[in-house]
Amino acid sequence: MAKKSPILGIDVGGSGIKAALVDVSKGELVSDRHRIATPQPSTPEAVADVIAQMVKHFDYQGNVGCTMPGVVQHGVLKTAANIDKSWVDTDANKLFSEATGCPVSVMNDADAAGIAEVTFGAGKEQRGVILVLTFGTGIGSALFVNGHLVPNAELGHLEYKGYDTETRMSAKIKEDKKMSYKKWGKLVNGYLQYLEFLFSPDMFVIGGGISKKSDKFFPYFETKAKVVTANLLNEAGIVGAAYAVSQD
Ligand code: BGC
Repeated sequence: MAKKSPILGIDVGGSGIKAALVDVSKGELVSDRHRIATPQPSTPEAVADVIAQMVKHFDYQGNVGCTMPGVVQHGVLKTAANIDKSWVDTDANKLFSEATGCPVSVMNDADAAGIAEVTFGAGKEQRGVILVLTFGTGIGSALFVNGHLVPNAELGHLEYKGYDTETRMSAKIKEDKKMSYKKWGKLVNGYLQYLEFLFSPDMFVIGGGISKKSDKFFPYFETKAKVVTANLLNEAGIVGAAYAVSQD
């Protein structure tokens, strides 16, 4: 079978926009990862400009897979918790495709990271229900049943103990409030147990930059389901977005 050419994956986050070329048969980066700070304010036009710069940087032509940190239905942003509010109802597929001259396909960032983990990473051999959670500026979630994604789960905004969870225990909140790993680990444990009550997952995959330090907070987790660290760490969004495009 002919080898597929690398696909450009772009991961749009609250603080940085990261891109790389991906070998979608292996789920591996085949170029350096290029990062540009997320423009502030992160308006659709400003972000589209960076996406166009990325495509130029890699001198790329072809399909592009891209993530956004919000609910994305058929390429249209429906929420914007940690990006400029003017994103709501913006057709990101159209905007980015026009800005780059390449067909760009946009999906939720946690869904992309989850696809990468379930296909190539920590959830690869696992059947049943997998819940991937990414802890960063916000809390992203991706729900899988036997490898099939239920898109836009948004469990980071689940109301837990009277609050929008993300506003209490994202990695950013841990940092802003100078919370210890012990305090944060116990808080997250309560949330995981609540998710377990609702979804009975077979496995939780914990991602986001903070998962590099999982040995510091995993000891506070007391779930029935297995909890594992994401394997692809900060490459997961890039890999998952590129892989999803290759499956279209
Ligand atoms: C957004 C999600 C996103 C997560 C991680 C949340 O605030 O609502 O769509 O996946 O942040 O970026």
